[in-house]
Amino acid sequence: MKVTAFNGSPRKNGNTSIAINILLEQLEKEGIETEMVQVGGMNINPCKACDKCRKVKDGFCHGYKVDKKDILNDYLKKIYESKGLIIGSPVYFGSVTPETKSLIDRVGYCARSTGMDNLLKRKVCSGVAVVRRQGAGTTLEQINNLFALCEVIVPYSSYWNMVMGKEKGEILNDKEGINNLKNLGNNMAWLLKKLYG
Ligand SMILES: Cc1cc2nc3c(=O)[nH]c(=O)nc-3n(C[C@H](O)[C@H](O)[C@H](O)COP(=O)(O)O)c2cc1C
Repeated sequence: MKVTAFNGSPRKNGNTSIAINILLEQLEKEGIETEMVQVGGMNINPCKACDKCRKVKDGFCHGYKVDKKDILNDYLKKIYESKGLIIGSPVYFGSVTPETKSLIDRVGYCARSTGMDNLLKRKVCSGVAVVRRQGAGTTLEQINNLFALCEVIVPYSSYWNMVMGKEKGEILNDKEGINNLKNLGNNMAWLLKKLYG
């Protein structure tokens, strides 16, 4: 059983990756395989509403030529092979990063394009926001919009799925946020084992 986590920050080893790793450590302690995948700074184009995915119906994007090196289909393959999905993003102007938004739009559109069950159905999914001060609520809502439209199952913690900090590593001072993420990781592992263990 595998969980794939996407880091929406262009800072590869920044706060979002630290936050995601806290979740992944809890999952691994419970014997669940994990992989962190970089999205921030990668070549992930926006959805161009060509609707080719809805014609081909294989759950993948057919809107970009292979030579454009668009990375979305590699990500989709990893997601479809996983029982769980984590999307983490830093807050940029009160929002997810542009790469995270492209991921949300295109994963959702492709997964729902088969004409039968959508391909995220009943996967266990969590969003995480990393914020200096303001915008975590909107950012989490943007990630949860993907989950809400794809019949996934979302575990929660005892507070919002967010942690606070600006400079790399600063979130480690947010003890409440870190403990909250550990608890979220535990709840995600518990749910995955109940459903798929
Ligand atoms: C372009 C840009 C916009 C940002 N906008 C916000 C914002 O609206 N609200 C906020 O609290 N922090 C904002 N931040 C701060 C980041 O969310 C914060 O530094 C976060 O820890 C970065 O995570 P990372 O290390 O994973 O990149 C912004 C940072 C950048 C670079």
